Amino acid sequence: MINRLIANTIPLLPERFVWLFSRSYIAGESVDAAMSACRSLNSDGIKTTIDILGEFIRSLDEARKNRDEYLALIETAQGAGIDGNYSVKPTMFGLLIDAEVCYAHIRDIVAKAADYDNFIRIDMEDSGCVDLEIDLFRRLKAEFPKNVGLVLQAYLRRTRSDLESLMDLHTPDVPLNFRLCKGIYAEPRRIAFQRHEEINLHFLEDLGFMLQKGIYPGIATHDRALVDGALKLIESYQAPRDRYEFQMLYGVTPELRSSIVDAGHTMRVYVPYGRHWFGYSTRRLKENPKIVSSIVKSLLLN
Ligand code: FDA
Repeated sequence: MINRLIANTIPLLPERFVWLFSRSYIAGESVDAAMSACRSLNSDGIKTTIDILGEFIRSLDEARKNRDEYLALIETAQGAGIDGNYSVKPTMFGLLIDAEVCYAHIRDIVAKAADYDNFIRIDMEDSGCVDLEIDLFRRLKAEFPKNVGLVLQAYLRRTRSDLESLMDLHTPDVPLNFRLCKGIYAEPRRIAFQRHEEINLHFLEDLGFMLQKGIYPGIATHDRALVDGALKLIESYQAPRDRYEFQMLYGVTPELRSSIVDAGHTMRVYVPYGRHWFGYSTRRLKENPKIVSSIVKSLLLN
């Protein structure tokens, strides 16, 4: 109840307050800040996936600028020798305004990544975007089989059936590559599982399906129970180390992250940067309203 109240208040918080929380979860506002975060992660043996913050734009002009920003980012990161790929949110390229324009922009980005033999992950947004994002992935995967992947959300009731229906795109030579996460958007009960245990159960079932079929999973979680469950599944399917990876968000649970890296598993960190950090940060605050009270404490102590 209190958590829900806090969650509803979060979007109303002043930017300065949210920034106090955000600064540990965002690489910075500039591409240079992102490069330095990636270099530091790479030097700890961690791969990256870089995300330029922004979503739900209002005009197609913004979509074009966002595409150009990604194209420039790829040139910069490849030039800097960063060991990592890129994540995109389709609504930032006009998915909900004109899906064809969005497709054309993301195609340009995937083509640029493909020039460097690199990879673009299509993030999954709220349930109103899922069909459109799966269609987008299907079209891009047909043209760039090795250079594009998708995110699937374990909390959605439809995810298992989406997984099964996407199997027509899977071959042992070029396996599907899916990031599996719990899902972060507020969705109604008829669309998404709500309870922690239910979501975790489906997460592990979906992961088991992926490992069994030889899909390459990006196991995206900071939940120790899921990490332990994933490690058991990896062992029982005898998945080789180059057939899966763990993924975490920048700045979240660094100790758990190090323990996975130290045990020899591949780890990739999602590195968000850019001017539009407010939406990203308020979603994370809603996820973890307890953090609000620690910010209040730090404000009072400063
Ligand atoms: P859970 O929420 O139970 O967190 C476990 C523990 O981790 C918490 O108790 C806390 O200690 C810590 N923790 C988690 N999040 C934290 C935070 N923000 N700040 C501080 N501590 C935190 N979702 C989506 O809908 N579409 C997407 O495309 C993506 N992409 C994505 C990429 C990557 C690399 C990750 C790791 C996650 C996503 N997500 C996402 C978000 C995902 O759906 C989910 O909301 C979060 O990962 C939180 O779920 P956990 O599995 O970490 O468990």
